[in-house]
Amino acid sequence: ATAGVAVGLALTTSAPAWAACDDGEIVIKFSHVTNTDKHPKGIAASLLADRVNAEMDGQACMEVFPNSTLYNDDKVLEAMLSGDVQLAAPSLSKFEKFTKQFRLFDLPFVFEDIEAVNRFQTSEHGQAMLDSMQRRGLQGLAFWHNGMKQMSANRPLLAPEDAEGLKFRIQQSDVLQAQFEALGANPQKMAFSEVYGALQQGVVDGQENTWSNIYGQKFFEVQDGITETNHGILDYLVVTSTEWLDGLDPEVRDQFLTILDEVTETRNAESFAVNQRNKDLIVEAGGVVRTLTPEQRQQWVAAMQPVWDQFMDDIGEDLLSAALSYNS
Ligand code: LMR
Repeated sequence: ATAGVAVGLALTTSAPAWAACDDGEIVIKFSHVTNTDKHPKGIAASLLADRVNAEMDGQACMEVFPNSTLYNDDKVLEAMLSGDVQLAAPSLSKFEKFTKQFRLFDLPFVFEDIEAVNRFQTSEHGQAMLDSMQRRGLQGLAFWHNGMKQMSANRPLLAPEDAEGLKFRIQQSDVLQAQFEALGANPQKMAFSEVYGALQQGVVDGQENTWSNIYGQKFFEVQDGITETNHGILDYLVVTSTEWLDGLDPEVRDQFLTILDEVTETRNAESFAVNQRNKDLIVEAGGVVRTLTPEQRQQWVAAMQPVWDQFMDDIGEDLLSAALSYNS
C-alpha cells in the first residue's frame, strides 16, 4: 500500500485512514460508526490503520469506514461472518444475539469508573470473555474503552421520576431496555446514526451515551441538558471472524495482533481524557450539563439497580462478583 500517503492523509486532514491496497496485500476492512478525530474509537481505528499500513506494507492494508458509512452496528457482525468486512468494534451492548455474558457490561452501576473497567477487562475473567463467541464464528481481539454514560432528555433529569413516561433511545440490548423500564420510561432500540434525527423530531425524548458520542453526534443541540450520572459504561469489542483470523499466515497474524495490542494500550490510556475534552466542548458550544448531589445519585442507584436480579442467570453471580471486585 501507499503507506506514506495513508499516514499523511490521516495526520493532515483527519480524513479516514485509507490506503490504496496493492495487489497481493491482505485487505482488512474496518467498519465503525463514530467520527475519526475526536472520539476514542475513531482515533484508535485511525492509529491502527496508520500503523498497519506503514509497518505491514506489502503484506496487509487496512481501510477504515467510519461514521456508519458502510454498516450500522446491527448489520456489521453479519457482514463480518459473510466476509464483507474483517474488523469492527461495536459496543459491548451489541452482542446480545451472540452471548448473554456480555450483559454484565450493560448493568447499571457495576463499575465505578473506566479504570475499574480496565482492571476487570485485563483480568483473567475479562480476557476469557474475548473467546466467548468462538462457536458463533466471532473472535474478540481487544476491549477498547469509550467511557461512562450520561443521560439526557428534553427536560431536566435530576430525580429518577423525571424520566418517567419519557421515550429513550437505547442500543440493541435487553438490559438497557429493562433499565429504562425500571424508571417507568419507554425505551426504543435504534441505530446510532438515527438518534439525532429522532431526538430532533421528537420521536424519542432522551438518550444515554458518553460525552464523546453526545458531542460527536451533537445530541446536546436537541436536548434540554445532560445529567452527569455516570450510571453505566460504553465500551467496545474489537472483533473479527474466527475463519478470517485462522486463515492468516501465523507471522502476519502475530504482527497484526501485536500492533493491535499496542494501539489498545496507548489509546485506552487516553479515553478518559478524550471524553473530558468532549464534555468541555459541549459546554463551550452552549450545552447544559447538570451534576447530581450524592443523595440524588443514590436515588438513581436505588431505582435502577434492581435490574441486576433480572439478568443474574444470564451473567452468572461469579462473573458479576469478579467484576465488582475491581472497584477500588
Ligand atoms: C451507540 O450505539 O450509541 C454506540 O454504541 C455507538 C458507538 O459506537 O459508540
